[in-house]
Amino acid sequence: MNQTFKLLPEEKLNYTLRAIYEESGYSRYRMNKFEEYDLYADHRDFLAADGVITFTDLSGKLMALKPDVTLSIVKNTRDLKGKTERLYYNENVYRAAKGRDTFREIPQTGLELLGCVTDETRQEVLNLALRTLSVIPKKSVLEISHLGILQDLLASLGVPESAEKELIGLIGGRNRHELEKRLEALEIGTEKRALFLEIVAFRAPAPEAAKELSSLFDGLASEEHLREFSALLTALPEEKAGEPEAYVDFSVVDDISYYDGVVFKGFLDGVPEPVLSGGAYDALMRKMGRTSSAIGFALYVNLLTDHNVFSETAEKVGGERRMLNVALPKGRLGEKVYQAFREAGFPCDEVLSDSRKLIFENPEAGVRYFWVKPSDVAIYVERGAADVGVAGKDILLEYAPDVFELLDLGLGKCRMCVAGKKDFADDTRKSLRVATKFGRIAADYYRSIGRDIDIIHLNGSIEIAPILGLSDVIVDIVETGTTLKENNLEVLEEIVPISARLIANKASYPFKAEQIAALTKRLSER
Ligand code: PRP
Repeated sequence: MNQTFKLLPEEKLNYTLRAIYEESGYSRYRMNKFEEYDLYADHRDFLAADGVITFTDLSGKLMALKPDVTLSIVKNTRDLKGKTERLYYNENVYRAAKGRDTFREIPQTGLELLGCVTDETRQEVLNLALRTLSVIPKKSVLEISHLGILQDLLASLGVPESAEKELIGLIGGRNRHELEKRLEALEIGTEKRALFLEIVAFRAPAPEAAKELSSLFDGLASEEHLREFSALLTALPEEKAGEPEAYVDFSVVDDISYYDGVVFKGFLDGVPEPVLSGGAYDALMRKMGRTSSAIGFALYVNLLTDHNVFSETAEKVGGERRMLNVALPKGRLGEKVYQAFREAGFPCDEVLSDSRKLIFENPEAGVRYFWVKPSDVAIYVERGAADVGVAGKDILLEYAPDVFELLDLGLGKCRMCVAGKKDFADDTRKSLRVATKFGRIAADYYRSIGRDIDIIHLNGSIEIAPILGLSDVIVDIVETGTTLKENNLEVLEEIVPISARLIANKASYPFKAEQIAALTKRLSER
């Protein structure tokens, strides 16, 4: 019988990638669906998402459904003593999706090279990451950075080790304004600060970047790291039309307790999060008692099907001007924000019309605006429904969306405060009852001062809570102070100043970098 099966596009991709990896000398690694839970408890920060599904085995030992493959491979591979092992996998992992309460079974394909990581093997893995992207039918970009170089840079500026993680997080958020403030607080001089900000904002095609590295980091990073990174970038295949583009972008960061060399992320046009992620993870190897080196990457296959990458009707994008999708916060602040965008070269005056319409576009200016609830802007941007948006710092602190924070617009200024009755005296023998809409901000603040609290979540009119004895204090926004005054309350502590910030989706940025950078620049020059 001559029966043929039609493979689904994702199955075809899977076989294509297996063939590529096997031809390159990688052998398939198979494993159980579960591992001892301790492996994840010990390396919690390595995991891409919180939440692990656990169960006990017959002897009562706590087990987990694998949320990750790399940790299992390292755990199950002996120390290689000079040898090199090349492995690839095709496995399902189990993770809670961000912002959702449910777990998902996520197919992941990836590879790991363990043993001797040299210039050649590093190039081999990066080339395989590029080849992986190249077989996906979408425009793609690989963004590359080097955490060793960033750590050298921080050390050479005199940043204490304790502040490294926070600063690397701000670099990863393209958050120039907060970085500048932190560096100032660390007493780093004006000239050094300016140099640092220029370096971390650097983004250029890989071959161009390779040429500029040594002058950019002159004396600020170790020669070996610069040599290694430059050798890697120079060896990348020449760019061809239709092939993935490779860029150096220092906003690509990862956890420095695990990754300490080259790191990279792959993006597809129209997919709102990175589809590929990888890097050199010697620090993880050391933590797990291994003396050899390692580098690898994973492709999140579920994102390809979730975002219709294989569908033939998916938008094909040519050289025409791309629309910039902007989420504006409805209300008074939104109108001020629109005026600023208009002056920055993105006019669409229909936005201000007195109608119930929520979406407006001006194709000539290449812009599409949406009016959304202010507290929802960050969700639209994080999920890629909007490329950029304007959200209050209160919302960014509360929901911690994974977005770039490009600019402090200086609009909508207010303060996040603790407020209470005028005669309030804290009785530290009891836990403090705090009413708020901002549970995370309140919890973080009280944790930082070591005060035990009970949070009472309310959705509005928070000021009533202490008056009626529902809470001892509130954590809320204070703008003019009128609401507090009229309710006989007063500010007890100021937690953080708040203002509107320009945010951008991290996966839109590589495809609309020029428009977004021009918008940011013009808004900053207002
Ligand atoms: C905010 C905040 C305060 C008030 C502060 O409330 O929660 O109640 O503004 O402003 P003021 O210092 O100028 O008086 P919002 O208007 O957002 O309504 P809410 O009660 O629903 O939180």
